[in-house]
Order: sequence, then C-alpha cells, then structure tokens
Amino acid sequence: MRLRNLLLRWLLIPTLLLWAAGFALSYLRSLAQAHEAYDRTLLGSALVVSENLAVADGEVVADLPYAALEMLRTDAQDRIFYRIASLDTGSHITGYADLPPPPAVPAAEPLFYDAAYKDQAVRIVALRTTLPEGGAQRQLLVQVAETLDARHQLTRRIVSEAAAVQLLLIALAAGLIAWGVRQGLAPLKRLRSEVRARGAHDLTPIDTRAVPREVAPLIHAINTHTERQRQLGEAQARFVANASHQLKTPLTVLRAQVDHALMQTELAAMRQVLTQLNETTDATGRLVGQLLALARSEPGRTLEVTAFDLTELARDATFELLALARSKRIDLGFEGADAVPVHGEAVLLRELVTNLVHNALTYTPEHGRVTVTVAQHDQRAVLTVVDNGPGIAPSERSKVLERFYRAPGTQPQGSGLGLAIAQEICARHGVTMTLGEVPGGGSGLCVALLWPAQDPAPT
Ligand SMILES: Nc1ncnc2c1ncn2[C@@H]1O[C@H](COP(=O)(O)OP(=O)(O)OP(=O)(O)O)[C@@H](O)[C@H]1O
Ligand SMILES: [Mg+2]
Repeated sequence: MRLRNLLLRWLLIPTLLLWAAGFALSYLRSLAQAHEAYDRTLLGSALVVSENLAVADGEVVADLPYAALEMLRTDAQDRIFYRIASLDTGSHITGYADLPPPPAVPAAEPLFYDAAYKDQAVRIVALRTTLPEGGAQRQLLVQVAETLDARHQLTRRIVSEAAAVQLLLIALAAGLIAWGVRQGLAPLKRLRSEVRARGAHDLTPIDTRAVPREVAPLIHAINTHTERQRQLGEAQARFVANASHQLKTPLTVLRAQVDHALMQTELAAMRQVLTQLNETTDATGRLVGQLLALARSEPGRTLEVTAFDLTELARDATFELLALARSKRIDLGFEGADAVPVHGEAVLLRELVTNLVHNALTYTPEHGRVTVTVAQHDQRAVLTVVDNGPGIAPSERSKVLERFYRAPGTQPQGSGLGLAIAQEICARHGVTMTLGEVPGGGSGLCVALLWPAQDPAPT
C-alpha cells in the first residue's frame, strides 16, 4: 500500500462526492429558475389574451391577430394554444375547445399545471378575468398552453454547460491534489535517497530535523534500533578479539604439554605430564564457558528471562564446586532455607554465582572457609559469598572488575574475566555487586549481591 495512493484516495473521493453534491444542487436551482422564467412569460401571454377580449353583440370575441400570438411565443419551436370559456355557464367560447381544463377553478391568482395535449406535454396557465357587459360582469376563464421544447432545450444546455465547467474544475482539483500530495511526500523521498546512499557500515543516526514532525518518532525509533545494532556489532567484534586472544595462551600451553608428554619414555613421568594436561584442559574448558557467558551478557542481546528460586540455583552452583573445595580441604558451606523468587536468565545468574564461589575457593588457602548465603531483606534478595582468604585491597576493588585484570602477584592461573563477567551479568539484571570486608572483621573477602526491590524484569 503506497502512502501516496492512500492520500490521493482519501482526498479525491471526498472531493468528488462534494462536487457531485454541489453539481446536483446548482443544477436543480437553475432548473427551477428557468421554469419560473418560462412560467412568467406564459402568464404574460395569458394576460395579453385576456386584455384583448371584448363583447360584441352579446358575444365574447377574442381580438387576437395571428401576429400577436406569434409574438407571445417564447420560442420559435414551441406551439401556443389558447382557450376562452365562460365561467358562468361553463361553455366554450373560442380557441381550442379540447384544451385540458384546470384541476380547479382559479381564484384571484393564476393557476399553472402540466398536461398532455395533441400527444405533447404542455404547460398551461389558467386565469380568471371579468368582462363588463352593460351593467353586468362576465366571468371568463382564459387558458394558454405552451409546448415544452424550449424548456427542455434550456435544461439540456444548463446541464451540459454546468457539467463541462464542473468536469474541468474536478480535473484541475485532481491535478492540484496530486501535485500537493507529491510535494507533501517530497521530504520522505529525500529521506529514502539519503538512507539508500549510505554505506553498509554507516550506522550514524539519521538527522530528524530534516524530516516532517509526524515522521520524526519513526526515525527516532529507527535510530534507537540502529544504535543498538551498532553496540551489538561493536560488542561482538570486541568479544571475538578478546576470545581469540584469550584462547591462544591455553592452546599454546596444551600443545607444549602434549609435546612434553610425547617425549617421555617412562610411564610415571608421562602420567605426571598428563595430569597437568588434564588441569590445563579443565581450565581451558572453564575459559570457553566464561567467554560464552560474556557473549551472552553483552548489552544489546535480549535476555531469556524466567522466574526461579535463587536459593535453589545458588545451592546447586555452590555444590557443583564441592570437588574443588575438597581438593583444597576448604569448608564450603551454604546457608539459605527459604525460597527466594527472582527473575532473570538462569544460565547467566548461575555463571555469576559459580564465578564468585570459584574465586573464593581459588584464592582462599587450604583449610580455609567459604560460605554462600541467600536471604531476603526488605523484599530484596541478597546473596553473599564470604571467604577467609587474603581479600582484595580497597584500592584494587574497582580494578579487578575490569576484563583481564588480575591483582598483582595473584598466584593460581586465571584469565581475569570472572569478576568482569559477574559485573556485567549484575548490570543486566539490575543487581548491585559490592566487594567488601568480611562481616565481623578478619581477613577475607565478602562479595554481596543485592537484587532490586521490585525485581523488575531485566532488559
Ligand atoms: N575471593 C577472592 N579473594 C582474593 N582475591 C580475589 C578474589 N576474587 C577475585 N580476586 C582477585 O581479583 C582478580 C580478578 O578476579 P577474576 O575472577 O575477575 O579473574 P581471575 O580469577 O583472575 O580469572 P578467571 O577469569 O579465571 O576467573 C583475581 O585475579 C584476584 O586477584
Ligand atoms: Mg576468577
């Protein structure tokens, strides 16, 4: 559906209807006026006839020379008939005896009526006149009839002339409307050419000042959409660059370890290298998982939001790392009995908890303690991961949230992505993450996650 056609249709149809109504009205009006004018002439003829009546020898005579009647004719084609009758006796006096009588006897006013005479439609006027005869008065009826040729001809002329003028006007108006619509749509055309002329990578917003005000909201929406696409594209490019860079190191290590293993001749030595290889494979697997989580939590991607119980999710994620805790003889505990309902993308929130617990287990020395707690305070879900490891110096706390940053001197292997991912997942879910001191003092780190009061559906 073209906007131009739509506009033309809704402008032209009402205009045509209006013109049709106007045409009908003016046609009927001019017809009535023409009719009135002809009736007046007809009445004039009847008056001439009545003025030329006289009584001679007791007889009424119409002194109407042919030329006089000829002059009465309104048009050369029309024929005129007249008839004089006595109103006293009702008898015919002179003229055409069979002229159709009036529907009623006219009073003071003349009476007009339509009838058929000699197989032709005629318009007749009937009037009453008095003729003095000695001391008495004679009451006479004068009828003058006229054929309708002239009237019909005039009607035809009125119709054809009016139709020609109206048609011309309609054609003019249609042309003007089409031109107007074209002019009105010109800014949209310009916009189209501007957008078409853009390069494939040009994602800059379209200038809304140059477009009509009605179209501006649409352009705004498109601009917003384009901006989101741009961010998404940027994020993806960044991700690909980061991911390939990050994967290079563990793959090189793996390659070296495999070479090293192949060089061993003794089974015991080979076993030792294979154990290392196993660990590197685990770490690489974790890195791939983290990179995927990073890709999923990028702004611009729509989250797959569901409602779930945070307690259950956090407990599962915690106990999945039980083996790691055992290998370091860390006392890993979970506190939280009641269900705490939240909304979000479960896979991401699970990754978030895993990253925090994994950090706590990684950086807490052997025989340490790590406790995960889920609770609800003032309608807000709260999750804490507390360890009794070295903690993070306050000056480092904002830096460790950056991608690939690791606090100086950090021992166990890692890529520095865990907390950056955690931070990004929190931002997408409206969750506030704070790194702080352990409650009650002592060394260690307390990471607290605070859900928003309303737990609105994340964006
Ligand atoms: N519980 C913790 N105790 C002490 N230091 C920590 C703790 N958690 C994080 N850190 C410090 O913050 C840094 C960043 O942590 P992050 O999880 O982002 O990366 P990472 O653990 O080094 O690598 P990975 O991407 O494998 O998790 C760590 O290198 C570490 O120095
Ligand atoms: Mg980590």
